[in-house]
Amino acid sequence: MSGTVFKLIELPYGLNELEPYISAKTVDFHYNKHHQTYVNNLNALLADKGWFADNLESIIMQTYKNDEGTAVFNTAAQVWNHNFYWHSISPGDDKKPKAELLKQIERDFGDFTKLRDEFIKMGLAQFGSGWVWLIWDSKDAKLKIVKTSNAEMPMLFHQKALLTSDVWEHSYYLDYQNRRKEYLEKFFDNLANWEFAAHNLSLVR
Ligand SMILES: [Fe+2]
Repeated sequence: MSGTVFKLIELPYGLNELEPYISAKTVDFHYNKHHQTYVNNLNALLADKGWFADNLESIIMQTYKNDEGTAVFNTAAQVWNHNFYWHSISPGDDKKPKAELLKQIERDFGDFTKLRDEFIKMGLAQFGSGWVWLIWDSKDAKLKIVKTSNAEMPMLFHQKALLTSDVWEHSYYLDYQNRRKEYLEKFFDNLANWEFAAHNLSLVR
């Protein structure tokens, strides 16, 4: 029995639309090579194991911390994380959260600048490859900034992801070399898709 063949999502904008903050070359490699390879490897691994799968999130939850499923977990989670990353970005100039999301940020962080500082600090604090996230923690009923290693994501810890930035070197090295802080600043100030974050928050509150 075979399940869905997973496909690379459509990029929500053109390869060059994130310039000058992320070059077309970086988006091309990141999306067409790295992300595509995760999708291809996931399909190959599932076929090889003869595992039925039709939902990315259930594969991720079932293979996390499962010795037999480590390679499937890593590829499936990286497909999900990259899907989420591309939607966490939008080209355009109006890069501030509004309405309910802004109110919640002010309640949980004090002000938007403190959220910015925390997001950049946490992205820098992730040693090696991983992700920095704005999440909704339903247990504490508040927004938080968290980091995860390699392919891990907030869903594994029962947190709702609202926005992410990829801090694997492949996401910034061609443009910023070792300057992860500058990449994170440009990401936060010019690319973060606050409408996407607000939408994600509206699903859980
Ligand atoms: Fe990546």
